[in-house]
Amino acid sequence: MVDNQGEEYLFKIVLIGDSAVGKSNLLSRFSRDEFDTNSKATIGVEFQTQLVEIEGKEVKAQIWDTAGQERFRAVTSAYYRGAFGALIVYDITRSSTFESVKRWLQELNTVAQMLVGNKCDLEDIRAVSVEEGKALAEEEGLFFMETSALDATNVDKAFEIVIREIF
Ligand code: GTP
Ligand code: MG
Repeated sequence: MVDNQGEEYLFKIVLIGDSAVGKSNLLSRFSRDEFDTNSKATIGVEFQTQLVEIEGKEVKAQIWDTAGQERFRAVTSAYYRGAFGALIVYDITRSSTFESVKRWLQELNTVAQMLVGNKCDLEDIRAVSVEEGKALAEEEGLFFMETSALDATNVDKAFEIVIREIF
């Protein structure tokens, strides 16, 4: 869905991954510079529109934040269609969320995909190494980045790389 009206471009990007990996907080950090320690699980799908300037052009990124909970699976997968980019998020402190990545990838068919290891502020309880993340990204042909929605590490960068790649 590229909507080219004069100087304006609209890109649809989806955030997917297991529940509680931090998708909603990555989006609130990117779009409003906010973080919520007590955020509730997303129900179904929510979206935010964010303006980003790339190569002097105004790009409108429509970012769809999907529920990671299994019971919403049928609803959310319908929203992947028409997406140009995707951030597949896992939590570096929970191996099970990393093991789910391949399953999430099977449902995607987007141009630009970024593997995101979130919660890198929690180094003491890390369960997935940077090397493991990198290796999976390489194997699957994805960009890779570790982020923290809590302290804002690499959050803008992760979104911007995906938007730039589509552009
Ligand atoms: P669903 O909507 O159920 O799919 O979950 P989600 O992936 O949107 O997770 P959400 O953003 O709601 O975050 C889940 C929990 O992790 C919340 O308690 C957040 O405060 C916390 N959290 C999110 N990102 C980070 C991070 O980078 N570091 C730390 N330490 N906690 C985080
Ligand atoms: Mg959420």
